[in-house]
Order: sequence, then C-alpha cells, then structure tokens
Amino acid sequence: MARDILVTSALPYANGATHLGHMLEHIQTDIWVRFQKQRGHNCIAVCGDDAHGTPIMLKARDGGVSPEELIAGVSAERQRDFADFHVVYDKYHSTHSDENRELSSAIYNTLKAAGHITSRTIKQAFDPEQQMFLPDRFIRGECPRCGTADQYGDACEACGATYQPTELGNPVSVLSGATPVERESEHYFFQLADFETFLRDWTRSDHLQEAITRKLDEWFTAGLRDWDISRDAPYFGFKIPGTEDKYFYVWLDAPIGYMAAFKALVDERDDLSFDAFWNPDSQAELYHFIGKDIVYFHALFWPAMLEGAGYRTPTAIHAHGFVTVNGEKMSKSRGTFIKARTWLDHVEPEFLRYYFAAKLTHRVEDLDLNFDDFMARINSDLVGKYVNIASRSANFITKRFDGRLADALDRPELAQRFADAGEAIAEHYEARRYAQAIRAIMALADEANAYVAERAPWQLAKEDGREAELQQICTTALELFRQLTLYLKPVLPATAERAEAFLQIAPLTWADLKTPLLDHTIAKFKPLLRRVEQPAIDKMIEASKEDLAAAAPAAEPQAPVVEQAAAADTENSQDDDTIDITDFAKVDLRVARVVAADHVEGADKLLKLTLDVGPLGQRQVFAGIKSAYAPETLEGRHVALVANLAPRKMRFGVSEGMVLAAGDSPHVLSPDDGAKPGDRIK
Ligand code: MSP
Ligand code: ZN
Repeated sequence: MARDILVTSALPYANGATHLGHMLEHIQTDIWVRFQKQRGHNCIAVCGDDAHGTPIMLKARDGGVSPEELIAGVSAERQRDFADFHVVYDKYHSTHSDENRELSSAIYNTLKAAGHITSRTIKQAFDPEQQMFLPDRFIRGECPRCGTADQYGDACEACGATYQPTELGNPVSVLSGATPVERESEHYFFQLADFETFLRDWTRSDHLQEAITRKLDEWFTAGLRDWDISRDAPYFGFKIPGTEDKYFYVWLDAPIGYMAAFKALVDERDDLSFDAFWNPDSQAELYHFIGKDIVYFHALFWPAMLEGAGYRTPTAIHAHGFVTVNGEKMSKSRGTFIKARTWLDHVEPEFLRYYFAAKLTHRVEDLDLNFDDFMARINSDLVGKYVNIASRSANFITKRFDGRLADALDRPELAQRFADAGEAIAEHYEARRYAQAIRAIMALADEANAYVAERAPWQLAKEDGREAELQQICTTALELFRQLTLYLKPVLPATAERAEAFLQIAPLTWADLKTPLLDHTIAKFKPLLRRVEQPAIDKMIEASKEDLAAAAPAAEPQAPVVEQAAAADTENSQDDDTIDITDFAKVDLRVARVVAADHVEGADKLLKLTLDVGPLGQRQVFAGIKSAYAPETLEGRHVALVANLAPRKMRFGVSEGMVLAAGDSPHVLSPDDGAKPGDRIK
C-alpha cells in the first residue's frame, strides 16, 4: 500500500553559503526521498531557509541591504546549489513567510492559553552604543576560570569552561567595542517541564536513534528547564502576539517552518491536505533529517510544542554526524571548507552523492571525506565496475544486431538472482543503511563483470556462427546493468537518466525489476561517467583557500546554544569523558620553535608567538602565558603546538594554533633536546 510520507531537512541559516556539511544532510535526505518515490510511495520533501535572528539582521546591516534582500539572495543561490546536486524539494520555502507567521502565532497562542508560557524579568547584557541586548556570542572578554583573553560570552576555547557572559573579565561588545551594561527585560518562557511525562515516553518509543535516547536520558536527569523564547527589539523575526517590541526567538519559529513549507505546498496543489499530515490522528509519516548538533531542539522542544498545540508528533528524527575532510574538521586555511558551488565548479556532483552514500550509516557518526579514498572509490566502483558492464557489451549490440537485444537471456538465473537481491537492498535504503546498500550493489556489479569476463563476448565476436550466443550474452550483461542502474538510481539520478536514455526505457521504478529487457532496441552507447583525477581535486582545494583575515567573521555564525545543548554532541555511544585513539589522532600535535615572542598592546595575559613549525611553515599564536614568561626567555625555545586548531580571529590578530602549557602558572611544555620543528608529537 502506498504510504504518505513527509520528509524534511534542517532549514539552513540564511546567513551563509551552502557547504559540504549541509550537502551531507541534503544528499542523505534526497536519496531517501527518491528511494521512497521509486518504490511508489507518496513521499513529499520540504525544506527552506531559516531566515531569522540577530546574525542575519546584522549581516544585512553590514552589507547595506535589508534582511529581506539578504535572505532572498541566499535562498536563490542555495536553490541553485541543490538543483545542481540533483537535490529536489517539492517546496523550498522560508521561515520568513506569511504561512510561518500565522502558524507560529497560532501555536504560541494555543500554548499560552493552555498555560505553558510564563514571563519574567531577567537581566541581560546590553550594548549602550548599539542600544541592543547582546546574545552571548556577541560578548567577548577574559575567561573567569583561566584568564585567557578574548573569549566568547558562553564558553572558553582555551580551557573549555562554560559560564554566563556576566562572569567575563573586561567584557566588550563585539558590535561596538563598548563595555556592556546589565539591563532588565521581560522575557517569555516555554515550560518544557510541563511535558516531562510525555517526553520521557516519546523519546523511548522508537522515534529516535539509540545513542540519542541515551543522551536525552542525561538531559532528563539534569532537569528540563524553561526555554526562553523571546528576544527584544531590534530583532529580525516575528513579533509575539500581544506585545509591542518582543520577537519570537529564531528557534521558536524555525521548526514551525517545516509546517509552513508544507502549508505553502498544499496551497499550490490540490491533491494534498494539510490536516491529513498534521492532525493528531494523521496516518501519514513524518521524518526530520538533522545534524547531531540540533537534536535538543528536535527531540525535546519540537515534539513538546506539537503535543501542546494539538498536532501530531514526528514519526522519527534521523540524526547524522558531521563531515570531516581528510580526517580533520573542515578548515578554511587548509582549503577543506568547501562550498557546494566550489565543488560543482570542479567535480561531478554525483560523485559526492555516491561517496556520501557509500559511507552513510543509520548511526550518528561523523563521516570523513578522504580524497585519496574518494578518487579510488569513484574510479573503481562507478567507472571501473558499473559503467564498464555496459561499455563492454553495448557496441556489439549496436554494430552486429542493429541495436536489437535478444529475445532470451544467456543466463536467466543470474538475472533472477539480481532481482531477488532487491528486497534486501530496499531494506537497507529504508533503514538509512546506505553503505550496506552500496556494498550489496557493488557485490552484484562484481558478479556481472565476472560473468562478462567469463563469457568474453569479444572472443565470440571473432568466431563464426556464434551470433545468437553473442547477442544473448550482451543482452544478459545489459539486463544486469539495467538492474544495477535501478538500484543506484536514488544515489545517481542523472546517470540513471542517461542510462535510461541509452536503454530507451521509461524511468525505472522498483517494480521494473521483474521484467527483463528483451527484444528491444537500444541507443548507441556513450560514456556515462568520466574518471575523477587529482588535478580537479587540487584545484577545488586551492579555490577553497581563503584569505583568513578577510574571511573571519566579526562573530561566529549563530550557534544554537541552549544551556543544556552544550552537551548535545551525540557522536558514537561513548562515555563523554573518554575518547578513542581516532579522536586523539585528530589532534595534530607538533614541535615548534619560538622565533619571536612579543608583548601585545592592550592584552594583560597574552604574548604573541611567532613559531617555526618546520615543513608546516610559520605560525602566529596568541598564548595566555604572559604572567609566567618574559618574551625574550622564550625565543629559540621548542614548544608543543596544536597545529590543526581552527584559526581564530582575536582582537589583536589571527591565532593559528595553541601552545600547550601545564597548571595555572602556567608552565610551557617542551620536548627533550633533539626534537625538530615540525616533528609530530604522538
Ligand atoms: N537553522 C538551523 C536549523 C533549523 S531546523 C528547524 C541550523 N542551520 S545550519 O545552517 O547551521 O545547519 C543546517 C544543518 O546542516 C543542520 O542539520 C546541521 O547539523 C547541518 N550541518 C552543518 N554543518 C555540518 C557539517 N559540517 N557536517 C554535517 N552536517 C552539518 O542549524
Ligand atoms: Zn578559560
């Protein structure tokens, strides 16, 4: 029976370009949606830009445009990115839409009427020059624990402490440099704890991956706190009904944006009903694909809001891990922070789809894009195995048989076995075990190639009187190719389309497994995919390297920080305090020689170090060691450097790593004599 399925991907913030991290999510979603459609289900996918919040407001202001203009431009660019990666949404909408305004207000009003909203006055940092309240990330100062200067208002990057912005030493507003003052303001809160019983049950009833359920248990233990859902003007968002200058916090209306996008689609089509998908008794399925960093919002706030407002709750949340490149976090300086458009300029989009699919599991694990592995895999699997089956048999059909396939197979039982594999492959796709689906498909491709090698049509072609046999062998090979195309189609939609044109068949659906392609005319074979070579990768990485100073934003992109969400890292199932060796291996520790150490004007605790890291070149690092070292005593000394820490723009310049030191004093760590700059510390 055909299922009604609504699928969403997280709504990307409208303040930046699409990058490979986003693409992992949209490709994962798109493969699943295409698979469901190919199986004959009524599967609808919606997404849109998340357009509200302080960073977007400020970015527009900086660029001298209105927020509406900014988000319109980003949305148009993003939709081109998605289309070029063959990612298709039935509706790509925006949270800054009439549908969303109406739904958000209505949901808020219902929650309020039911007693789930309270208000109280809180104290918050206020920028007296800009005349606005400051989100934590827009305040910087000295860490209350270790004293490192220029830390964010919520957490210290040097020692990992988390705290309130009011605890910072010498705080400044990132916007104006002014010292923030404390100011009172009335805020509105959603009482999450009202839903504790519901949520405890919901989070344990197969709606979530196991690792996430476990993580949530910790959050329950910590206690469900009230959620601050209002922000003061100026703010780019929706005004809260019944107030003059209060706005919904971006995360209040963001998930409602899923409903709004669907609503907008319903208004365009007459075969869909909003209620049929969102009423509490809906029989339709609802899935949200998201990254592990936003689980808290989707697994707690969102179901609670829906429950409280009288809507159905999600069937499941499908969370994925983060993309790393060559084993490390994507980095602008290394050229591995790759934008979707940069990839499209240099490398075939379906290769990214295939590589992600080949590595994606149903678990919340990070996924490493390793370029050596990437090239080997694409060239061997897609070009060497899959396309090869067709290219080795098609020409005989064209030249010897006028493009006509035989009316019987040489090896019907082999084709039958391929078709029989379909259910297992479908189960893998359904359960988001794409890696297993791909492994099963490539095992079949190996069998198909072994078959062609064994029957060697190129040999038969030289012999007289074996025409019928030759035609049946090539027909069999092309039938196997057709089935492989059907299986790969959710991942490689454009290649599948070219293959369908070559075979001159209608778009393949799962039901087409049953009927082999016989006694049918095919078109002339054209190469379906080209190999990927190193120079294309090199160019893409080169194009991704940006001038750090120019690229560093005044403030980090808006981090969806809720107090408890700091613990939202649900990677693997390990205890929080332990890491395994692969985690440790991510840290690139190097010996460095201090070339120069200088005082930094205006900084109480920092010294500016110029370091020689051997083959890695020179680095500039700001270290909080001024209290213990006179600069000249450091020069010439060897130190231990974390070399792959993301560069950070500080008030005084960019810091390109971290020097290790022990204790509060602190004591700088040095290797024994003999270590050379650039040596790896293991
Ligand atoms: N606007 C919110 C989502 C609101 S949903 C109601 C947001 N936007 S985001 O642009 O920061 O991220 C969008 C999605 O991309 C999230 O699911 C996030 O986890 C995912 N990713 C962002 N960077 C990523 C990687 N490096 N790797 C994989 N996914 C990543 O959060
Ligand atoms: Zn600190």
